[in-house]
Amino acid sequence: MICHFSGTGNSMWVAQTVSARFRDSRLTDMADAVVSGNSLNFSLTEDERLGFVFPVHSWGIPWIVRRFIEKMSVSDYDNQLIYCILTCGDDCGLTNRMLQKLFRRKGWQCRHIYSVQMPNTYVVFPGFDADPAELEQKKKREAVGTLDKIMAAIESDTPIDCYLQKGQQFLKSRIIYPLFCRFAMSSKPFRTTDKCIGCGICVKNCPTHNIRLENGRPVWANNCTQCLSCLHRCPQTAIEYGKQSVGKGRYYYGKRKE
Ligand SMILES: Cc1cc2nc3c(=O)[nH]c(=O)nc-3n(C[C@H](O)[C@H](O)[C@H](O)COP(=O)(O)O)c2cc1C
Repeated sequence: MICHFSGTGNSMWVAQTVSARFRDSRLTDMADAVVSGNSLNFSLTEDERLGFVFPVHSWGIPWIVRRFIEKMSVSDYDNQLIYCILTCGDDCGLTNRMLQKLFRRKGWQCRHIYSVQMPNTYVVFPGFDADPAELEQKKKREAVGTLDKIMAAIESDTPIDCYLQKGQQFLKSRIIYPLFCRFAMSSKPFRTTDKCIGCGICVKNCPTHNIRLENGRPVWANNCTQCLSCLHRCPQTAIEYGKQSVGKGRYYYGKRKE
């Protein structure tokens, strides 16, 4: 089973690539599962792997993923292989340690935590922007080889060193990440400009079903994960996050739900 979460498609590409190679078609959308309130009890066959694929948010685990992992149970867990593949712009911080702590509390063991560098999607803080086109293409090209190595390591159950981590990890993951989770989840700064045509593509593509149309304009509720799917996938570039996103690049991988 592959449990996935993706705002702008990078992690979805990883999940689908892994699913094709491992012939593991059981894809579970973590955001959908949490928001729908459905049962989070799963079962695994004896030789089935349990995978988690999701983006790094502020050098940590997106809250929706954390909630899914905390609440999920696997009725017949018997040391089946667990793996995590994180996608990131350039630095995962201590997300691996956070995951290990979550798994330890559940009595699970995970020896495979990896990251794949993908185009950056965080554009709503000063100094952060989407990657230039050339870097975007380079990251996507190199991700193919990285993911290939990761899948081989998981298949042979031979852990490798493939995790992007830069300096100041404590500051980023232990200080900024908790502040981000507490103060940066607000959807209040989301707004539409005159370019909005009320097409509803933001509504269809929001992983937490947090947007509805009112009088032909999107309205955001309070279940935002800051994945920025709405902002990046808007075909009119009509969605901004306060003033922070104005003039910044837009990016998404793959298709959008039209
Ligand atoms: C709210 C937010 C926070 C992010 N924080 C980080 C980060 O701490 N480190 C990093 O390398 N990339 C960060 N990124 C970039 C994403 O992790 C990266 O672009 C990821 O591949 C996006 O995956 P997705 O398209 O599946 O949503 C962040 C992106 C967002 C939207």
